[in-house]
Amino acid sequence: MCGIVGAVAQRDVADILVEGLKRLEYRGYDSAGVAITNNNNELLTAKRLGKVQELAQALIETPLTGGTGIAHTRWATHGAPSEVNAHPHVSNSTIAVVHNGIIENHEALRSRLQGLGYEFLSQTDTEVITHLVHHELKSSDSLLSAVQKTVKQLEGAYGTVVMDSRDKDNLIVARSGSPLVIGYGVGENFIASDIMALLPVTRKFSYLEEGDVAQISRFNVSVFDSNGKPVEREAKEANVSHDSGDKGEYRHYMLKETYEQPTAIRNTLDGRLVAGKLDINTFGEGADEIFKNVEHVQIIACGTSYHSGMVARYWLEELAGVSCNIEIASEFRYRKSFVPKNSLLVTISQSGETADTLAALRLAKEIGYQSSLVICNVPGSSLVRESDLAFMTKAGAEIGVASTKAFTTQLVGLLMMTLAIGKHHGMSDEKQAEITQSLMSLPAKLDEVLALASSIEDLAEDFADKHHALFLGRGDQYPIAMEGALKLKEISYIHAEAYAAGELKHGPLALIDAEMPVIVVAPKNDLIEKLKSNVEEVRARGGLMYVFADSDAHFASDDTMKVIDVPICDDIIAPIVYTLPLQLLSYYVAIIKGTDVDQPRNLAKSVTVE
Ligand code: M6R
Repeated sequence: MCGIVGAVAQRDVADILVEGLKRLEYRGYDSAGVAITNNNNELLTAKRLGKVQELAQALIETPLTGGTGIAHTRWATHGAPSEVNAHPHVSNSTIAVVHNGIIENHEALRSRLQGLGYEFLSQTDTEVITHLVHHELKSSDSLLSAVQKTVKQLEGAYGTVVMDSRDKDNLIVARSGSPLVIGYGVGENFIASDIMALLPVTRKFSYLEEGDVAQISRFNVSVFDSNGKPVEREAKEANVSHDSGDKGEYRHYMLKETYEQPTAIRNTLDGRLVAGKLDINTFGEGADEIFKNVEHVQIIACGTSYHSGMVARYWLEELAGVSCNIEIASEFRYRKSFVPKNSLLVTISQSGETADTLAALRLAKEIGYQSSLVICNVPGSSLVRESDLAFMTKAGAEIGVASTKAFTTQLVGLLMMTLAIGKHHGMSDEKQAEITQSLMSLPAKLDEVLALASSIEDLAEDFADKHHALFLGRGDQYPIAMEGALKLKEISYIHAEAYAAGELKHGPLALIDAEMPVIVVAPKNDLIEKLKSNVEEVRARGGLMYVFADSDAHFASDDTMKVIDVPICDDIIAPIVYTLPLQLLSYYVAIIKGTDVDQPRNLAKSVTVE
């Protein structure tokens, strides 16, 4: 979603801001803008609809010079994508504001400010912040105090940066519900919504907490909590490579990230399975005690992360013998739910900033969940900071909007969690050893699966003129079918649905004809004969099938069915193994359709508004 970059430096900051915006492109956006205060204390702005490159080109044609500036990529919520609605928004040629989030009481504030004579140029909720700061400055002794008074009047979510061209030594930033990170340089300091934006200029970061307002100047950063009390927010070195934003030899980030899965899983396992035993401390302090007392697990997540949670339910109930519910965060947060005794709340999130998941975690604490664990890929993110325990996936930065390596490393984390809980609930030593062995075998197995890429690419042509697709799976492959359908619709814009194969005859069979490709995930497991009956139901109605199966499942290609041989693997890790062919299929179909694979239309990487 929207991205923020800001800088206070002696050197010109336009290039730093634009590079920062480029590094945030993966989050999804529709327009970009920058505001810089020049040496004569004049506020200069440039905005463009479309890609950051358009803005970069505008700045080559008309450079903006100055050492203090703010920049933004906007993902429209209030008001259509346009240059007028793009940030920064400006009041009286002096105050410039960028904002992530949604100001829920913007209509009331807008009417009040209009009554005070302010003229609004955009349809955005953000513009109210701009004029409100300008208004509050009239009765304040500093920009800091004007922003502190302003945020007290805002309802909703914001990460915002305010610049006053008459005071070019300072930026004022405020966080409530939308993350902001301060970057520390030498004689220069920075602000961004994501550390990725600042990696070329610093590795030292501190995160603002909810309600914080901070003043950032070249040599100093002062942070105040929601009561206006000065507070310290510890700065730490980030352990992220500068090059994480580089596509290397790959045509798209999504393809690079698909191929990175064996390494990402190796990194996620590394040091955690010591001499064949799981190191419980990997979940955080006190994890063993919490796992010992768990009688029920409630999983909450969105999108792809929800699908990994669905697989975990099969594992927890079957392997660990612990009951488990899973719910979409945006549903959980708005209903009254029952909290079973000794329940562990598990959230799953690649970004750690998904607004609905974060709200669900906060609600869970209020309604009586004793302990919480997050499975997450971003250290220092809000969900990590607000959970009791955290399992950090080591997928590395995931740039493609379509989640790939984050998903499979989440599954690895969830299988390790199943081990950790199961050991307290009667899981035998043999079963523990079997799971551990299977996990260790995964990276090599995934390398074998990736070798299928060219045969999967050959299938993609068949989908070029299709408008719909159906994915089928049973048991723990049902969520994998759902994930396959989500990937296909997300990046190829083909409408895709997933069904538990046993549900076919309860309705979806009516859809089957030659125009509806049916993708089946069919490893040889206890349900294979049931699944074969479902396959026959499709065949009898003239459906064309693409079956991903291992040789033990004994499917054969014919006129109605193309079989893709997936390497044989242990049942336990089959959901992870069968994910990769579906990711590759979606990717190659999207290539044929010519879509924007890494930044599909209307989507954002980090969904920080509800
Ligand atoms: O960062 P999160 O894992 O919390 O994000 C949740 C979803 O927005 C995300 O998984 C989304 O569904 C992906 N784009 C799917 O590829």
